[in-house]
Amino acid sequence: MLGFRKKEKRVTFSTPEKKPNKKTESAKSDPKPASETFDSTKVKSEIEKKLKGGEIEKKHADILKQRAPVKHVIDSATHKKAGRVKQYIKTGIPGFDQLLEKGIPKGYAVIVAGGAGSGKTIFCLQTLMKKASDGKKCIYMSFEESEERLKDHIEEFGWDADSMIKSGNLVIKRFNPFEITRSVDALLMKAKGELLIDMEPLILPKGFRPDVIALDSLTAIASAFTGKEESYRAYIEQLFRFFERIEANAFLITETKQVPTIFSQTGVEEFLADGVVVIYNIKRGNVRERAIEMLKLRGARHEEKIVAMEITENGIVVYPNQQVFGEAD
Ligand SMILES: Nc1ncnc2c1ncn2[C@@H]1O[C@H](COP(=O)(O)OP(=O)(O)OP(=O)(O)O)[C@@H](O)[C@H]1O
Ligand SMILES: [Mg+2]
Repeated sequence: MLGFRKKEKRVTFSTPEKKPNKKTESAKSDPKPASETFDSTKVKSEIEKKLKGGEIEKKHADILKQRAPVKHVIDSATHKKAGRVKQYIKTGIPGFDQLLEKGIPKGYAVIVAGGAGSGKTIFCLQTLMKKASDGKKCIYMSFEESEERLKDHIEEFGWDADSMIKSGNLVIKRFNPFEITRSVDALLMKAKGELLIDMEPLILPKGFRPDVIALDSLTAIASAFTGKEESYRAYIEQLFRFFERIEANAFLITETKQVPTIFSQTGVEEFLADGVVVIYNIKRGNVRERAIEMLKLRGARHEEKIVAMEITENGIVVYPNQQVFGEAD
């Protein structure tokens, strides 16, 4: 799963050499100051004020309170790419793109977070099918479901996976997450505590230069690193640098609680990512309702609300004007 770029510098594993990579640096150095400046009493009283003023409902206030610390850190992160965005991509998911002013900036890595069965895989497959039919090179890297199952999944919605695969615009490939940990272990052994700074954290098919990558899921990769948290963090940093280098749009699935307050395994991933989409599966009485939110998108305007979503026989449909407030299950 891993490869090297030739003749790169070595850095120590625990204290990586400083590289002029502001994204990674800011991600590493931001959380501390941000958490130091977080005033939970003040934030909570502001939410209470909105609640009393009738601006928001109780359920929405609860969600805002729950996620206040994470939102604070995300908002405090340096927006490296802000100001130099020129091109945007659309997901093609009906209603979802309307949550965004212009779309998702080209080259961004976006986390797609949500609980089990919330629709993360469908969200990514639907986006990839749209981009592939627009002539973009797309790859679905699965660490969970088999290629066949994913193809069936696509076809259940009436989308023609075969013709996209034949055209060369869509590649679906399954990987074993333990191959990654084994490779990282081997590297560490070889480097005696040092890690090559520019290893290739994912091997793409030869000659395939993707415009869009979906990775299903970061959680599966993280699980393979259980007990090796430091190695996982180092790997994740390499992964985000890799996406930055190849300038593809990446959609990275993370499995969370149904109403998440943390959007990835370690919480670090959401700093490194340029955007976070959250899919909710909210329980109201005996009924589960789906909802979706563009929680963060660096340097790009977007709606800041949780809106209704449905999985229909034609795929995901988002209702951008139908606001949903749910409470934690
Ligand atoms: N043809 C369909 N029509 C309507 N709903 C469907 C259809 N196929 C799947 N679903 C719904 O989509 C859900 C699964 O979506 P998806 O596989 O994208 O979820 P996920 O978030 O990736 O789940 P997991 O965490 O298990 O990987 C199912 O729980 C089901 O409710
Ligand atoms: Mg899935």
